[in-house]
This record gives sequence, C-alpha cells and structure tokens, in this order.
Amino acid sequence: MKLQKTLFAGIAAVLSTGALIGSNVASAQKDWPTKAIQMVVPFAAGGPTDTIARLIAVPMGQALGQTVIVENVPGAGGTIASTKVARAAPDGYTIYIHHMGMATANALYDKLPYDPMTSFEYIGQVADVPMVLLGKKDLPANNFKELEAYIKANGSKVTMANAGPGAVSQLCGLLFQSRMGVRLTNIPYKGTGPALTDLLGGQVDLLCDQTTQTIPYIKDGRVKAFGTTTMKRLPAIPNVPTLNEQGLKGFEVKVWHGVYAPKGVPQPILDKINAALKKALNTPDVKKRLEDANIDIVPMEKVSAKGLKNHLESEINVWGPVIRKANIPD
Ligand code: MLT
Repeated sequence: MKLQKTLFAGIAAVLSTGALIGSNVASAQKDWPTKAIQMVVPFAAGGPTDTIARLIAVPMGQALGQTVIVENVPGAGGTIASTKVARAAPDGYTIYIHHMGMATANALYDKLPYDPMTSFEYIGQVADVPMVLLGKKDLPANNFKELEAYIKANGSKVTMANAGPGAVSQLCGLLFQSRMGVRLTNIPYKGTGPALTDLLGGQVDLLCDQTTQTIPYIKDGRVKAFGTTTMKRLPAIPNVPTLNEQGLKGFEVKVWHGVYAPKGVPQPILDKINAALKKALNTPDVKKRLEDANIDIVPMEKVSAKGLKNHLESEINVWGPVIRKANIPD
C-alpha cells in the first residue's frame, strides 16, 4: 500500500513537471520574440540579396517588436550560409533569406550538407528580380552585336565576374557563355556587391547582375547594358533590348527569393514570422524601392510555406536539367 502511494505520488510529480514544461514551451512561443532575430544572408554586404534583406528587416522588426539583424555569411555560392542555418537552433531567432541558388545548388554540388527540401521550414516567397548583362564603361563594344564580335576576337582574355558556384550571376554568366559557344575567364567574388564595385572600377569586363542595384548605374552610363534576361524589356530601362530579342532565344533568368528557418521551429513562431514578412512587403517604402528596380513582389498567396516549398521543388526540377545540359562546372 505504502509502495502504491509512493508510486502514485511519483507519477503525479512527473505529470505535473510535464505539464509545467508544456506550459513553459507554450508561453515561450506566445512571448516570442524576446530578443533580436538574426537574418542570415548568403552573400556579401552591399549586393542584391543583402539589399532586399535590409529592406525587409526593418519593417519585419517593427512588426515583431524586436530588431532583425542582418548577418552576411558569404562563400561557396550561398551553401555555407545554408549549412549554418540548417544547423541553427530551431527557436525562431535565426531566419534566412536566399534566392534561387537554394534550388540550383542541388545540381551544382555533388554532396550538400543539407537538403533544401527537408532541412528547413518555409516562411514564404519574397520577390522576383530581373538580371542584366553588364559591361564595364570602357569596353570597346557598345551593343550586343559588337560584344559578340569582341568576345569572338578576344576569347578567354575577356573576364566575367560572378558570386561563385550556386550564385545566379554565375549561372547567368555560364548560360550566356554556353549559348555563345565561348569560355571566358570567370572570376568569383563573395557577392555581386564587390563584383559590381570592380566592374565600375574597370577591373573586370562583364557581369550578369540583378537590377536591385544596377539601374542607376545603367541610366547614367557608368556601366554598359547589353541585354536583359527577361522576355519583355524592363520599364526602367526601355532602351535596353532583351537577350531573347537579340538572338539568344528563350534566355530567361528571373531571380526569386524566399525566407526560411531551420527545421523544427514551432508553428506559432513560423506564423508570426510569416505575418511580419507579409506586413513588410506591403510597406509603401519597400514597395516603392522594389518597383523602382523593376522587382516584382510575389502575390501574397505565395508568401506562404506552401507557396515557397512548391516553388522550390519545381525550380529544382527546372534547373537540374538546364545546368547539366549547359555542362556548368562546379
Ligand atoms: C548577391 O547578393 O551578391 C547575389 O545575389 C549573388 C548572386 O547570386 O549572383
């Protein structure tokens, strides 16, 4: 009898501890966030991904009542940052913004230390960014035809910057070279922020970059624009023809972005991050800044876990064969 009583008391104690832990977890999720949140960016500061991250970090922080701090973790075309985030604590204090490199890395790297389809929680898609094939101001070619002739005459003496294997600048640059049947000298940087600085300084000849930063430089002639990677011309630079209309039929690269968290973040926290992201994308300042760079904010139904996960999966299926066919080296 005495033993039975002790046993019951023990069970009651365990149950009440369990209930206490359960209620602590629930209240931690309810109170979240109680400290600053880190938004990891897989490329160097000053580049397109970093710019979008900093643009949304402020209104997201305001919506959440805590600062969202941007941390740049560049290298290996974004895969170093993806690995870091996949291994981070699933407490909602680490979130991640990455572009379509999340889908292309699968085909570019033999073995990744994470799986884009299972190692993350999906918060939502953000925006689609067009790209432009740019040249330094002093490049002798003034239009696409002249660029073709210049490349034919100079071959591997022509240099092309990119942000490493897995970066969209590399993908765009190598697809361009594959379509032109040439191999230029490709120079990797930690992001297209520093690559653009070198293009402006004349240290490198070509760069395929997103419009996030480049429109003002194209408009005032500090870089040459040889063609957009879109099917239609861009309203901000209507005089720049598409690569498609200049002979590279079907040449289309639009850079989509998504926000992620490590696998295992509790749903109530994911919901709060998602609501903050939606709010940020509807802020007039953010909308204006993105519109000026001809960046499309995705429809709000895509700013969702389902929207991002489905898109990522379909993009892995689209880019895998394209990358293998173009024989893009890692
Ligand atoms: C960056 O933010 O530097 C770019 O998105 C890099 C790239 O993918 O080209």
